[in-house]
Amino acid sequence: MNVSNLDPGFSGLPISTVAIDLQHRSYQIAIGSSLFDSPLTYSELPGASSVLIVTNSTVAPSYAERLRAALCPKFANIHLVILPDGEEFKTWETLNLIFDALLKNGCDRKTILFALGGGVVGDMTGFAAASYMRGVPFVQIPTTLLAQVDSSVGGKTGINHPFGKNMIGAFYQPLQVVCDLDTLKTLPARELSAGLAEVIKYGPIADYDFFAWIEAHIDELLAREPAALAHAVKRSCEIKAWVVGQDEREGGLRAILNFGHTFGHAIEAGLGYGRWLHGEAVGCGMVMAAHLSQRLGLVDIALVQRLTTLIQKAGLPVTGPRLAEIDNARRYLELMRVDKKSEGGQIRFVLLDGTASAQVRGAPDDLVREVIDACCICL
Ligand code: NAD
Ligand code: GLY
Repeated sequence: MNVSNLDPGFSGLPISTVAIDLQHRSYQIAIGSSLFDSPLTYSELPGASSVLIVTNSTVAPSYAERLRAALCPKFANIHLVILPDGEEFKTWETLNLIFDALLKNGCDRKTILFALGGGVVGDMTGFAAASYMRGVPFVQIPTTLLAQVDSSVGGKTGINHPFGKNMIGAFYQPLQVVCDLDTLKTLPARELSAGLAEVIKYGPIADYDFFAWIEAHIDELLAREPAALAHAVKRSCEIKAWVVGQDEREGGLRAILNFGHTFGHAIEAGLGYGRWLHGEAVGCGMVMAAHLSQRLGLVDIALVQRLTTLIQKAGLPVTGPRLAEIDNARRYLELMRVDKKSEGGQIRFVLLDGTASAQVRGAPDDLVREVIDACCICL
């Protein structure tokens, strides 16, 4: 994609790109405004006789026709499938709607899928692309902050299982990621806050200067100030690209991106998918993981308080929900053992150590219980 040919976005925002360096699976993330609905954005994609736009019932009314119009000059047959909206629909049944649309429309091995939506649409479209005819190309057009800073980048795709989050899926990289900041204008405030959780995550695991920058600009971010959003998306994508470039399939380093997710996934599965937003669960999970780090002597309480204050200012919960009336901690532990990082039934946590990196390791159950008891709402 030759982004230098595109107009600068509103407020004179420059269009920037971040490269994901993965040999023959390398690609660019474009970040700016007026991107997703410009034909130029897609000019360097390979030719295909048909494409399928995958979106959901919330995103489609505002964005699907604009994407179709932008794809029209290049692709003769543009099909559309609209999925039900919600984390609770990140299932086999919904995935099958994508396969049905591909087969009904006679889509072949060159068909390109376009994921237009948040992380749920992106993860499911990527998984469909990974498995349809054993793999067809796809493009990510993330329309939530969370998807722009995290889920559209790095090739993790999949669906949930009632026993565990994102348990079925594949690593499969997109051809291109298009982060159009204009789409964030229609995002509900609660979803913006959820996205900020994943932005905040990158600070203590990779870049304390960025952490301090988020603290200083949290009000601008909440007010959707374009320059602040552009910087947050770009720096988040740079950090993610750096991590994924070294460890695409999570043999080691990439696990640090799961900071807050071990507790967070337990909250999502334990409450039932969709009750808390993914970003809300991650925000609260980061507070719990930071407390665990402190109790293990890895960081001091001042860092835990600093992180908690920022998460709270971002509009996110910092107190965990109870997942069971009796022995709440046991229910958390039971759910966390299903986490993908677990080895031989031993839960592994992403823990802060104050070094702009993180440790992935186990912790004694007694200590984890103490953290859960201290961080969860009393009945
Ligand atoms: P989401 O996809 O459910 O989107 C949130 C809500 O915002 C939905 O109701 C959606 O319809 C709506 N929406 C999307 N764009 C909009 C817009 N521009 N204007 C108005 N409404 C809009 O949730 P999410 O937070 O984007 O993503 C969460 C999902 O991403 C989870 O399933 C999580 O597991 C996954 N995830 C994946 C990765 C990865 O690496 N693949 C990383 C982080 C999270
Ligand atoms: N969101 C975590 C990862 O992509 O590895």
